[in-house]
Amino acid sequence: MSIKGTSLLSTNDVSREFLDEIVEFGRDILKSPHIYSNSAQGKILATLFFEPSTRTRLSFESAMLRLGGRVLGFADANISSQSKGESLQDTIRTVSAYSDLIVMRHPLEGAAVLADKVAGVPIINAGDGGHQHPTQTLTDLLTISESKGTLEGLKIGLCGDLKFGRTVHSLIKALSFYQNNELIFITPDELRIPNYIRETVLKEQNIKSREVNSIEEVINELDVIYMTRIQRERFSFEADYNKLKDVFLLDNKKLKHAKKDLAILHPLPRVNEIAAEVDDDPRALYFDQAKYGVYVRMALIHKILGV
Ligand code: NCD
Repeated sequence: MSIKGTSLLSTNDVSREFLDEIVEFGRDILKSPHIYSNSAQGKILATLFFEPSTRTRLSFESAMLRLGGRVLGFADANISSQSKGESLQDTIRTVSAYSDLIVMRHPLEGAAVLADKVAGVPIINAGDGGHQHPTQTLTDLLTISESKGTLEGLKIGLCGDLKFGRTVHSLIKALSFYQNNELIFITPDELRIPNYIRETVLKEQNIKSREVNSIEEVINELDVIYMTRIQRERFSFEADYNKLKDVFLLDNKKLKHAKKDLAILHPLPRVNEIAAEVDDDPRALYFDQAKYGVYVRMALIHKILGV
């Protein structure tokens, strides 16, 4: 399929064919990255981060540099002209003239869609509020398929803040393309997945799913557990966050009951959801996951630029 020149705003707009193509290409690049080291020569990627980020921004920058391209951008909204009152549209129109591709993160849901309407170059959404984060999903799919050898027939536990967690929203949609997966949502009542996802993705596509309140109830049956942080910045009241912030902790004691080949994922940053002692467990894949993120982003940039 032709991906050249297209934006990636949400996993709701993509096909299984698109996901497979990027994940497979990411796997190829992972095996022989040197083949691609000059692919994006002469091209410029702009990274506009209006919200904090370590992994996603640096992972995109690393991906572009590893393809032989160059990067420009900012990592702090306060140093952009938006702090002078410039509109997002004007910033995007301007940066379109400076670059071949824009990666952006913004605190408002829908910001990437708005940017795409005025941009003169493709836009990649690197997170818009509590809505979507499609390139994290590409990372997650490569990690799961490298570890399990398949993206089908898996029991996948999604744990933590499923209300505001954009990585989970993007991932649920993507997993719905693959057959016979069962999703188990591990969440406190306050942080259950939004109704619009329940009514669309889950119902229309007939995804097998259930909800539980604790890790202990289901840890023994899972093939994958996807831990997430409680999204402090999306809460209106600090007291509500404080009540929920330590609700889940994955530690060695709970993992005693898990399958020998469980895959433990986390988009990171971790706050208190996974005990540091788990890092030495071979089932802990979250740092590999961060590494895979570079390769799927190389694949995505390569295909969008059509180089
Ligand atoms: C995630 C995000 O920004 O949504 N982080 C990331 O991109 N790796 C998850 C999070 O911040 O909790």
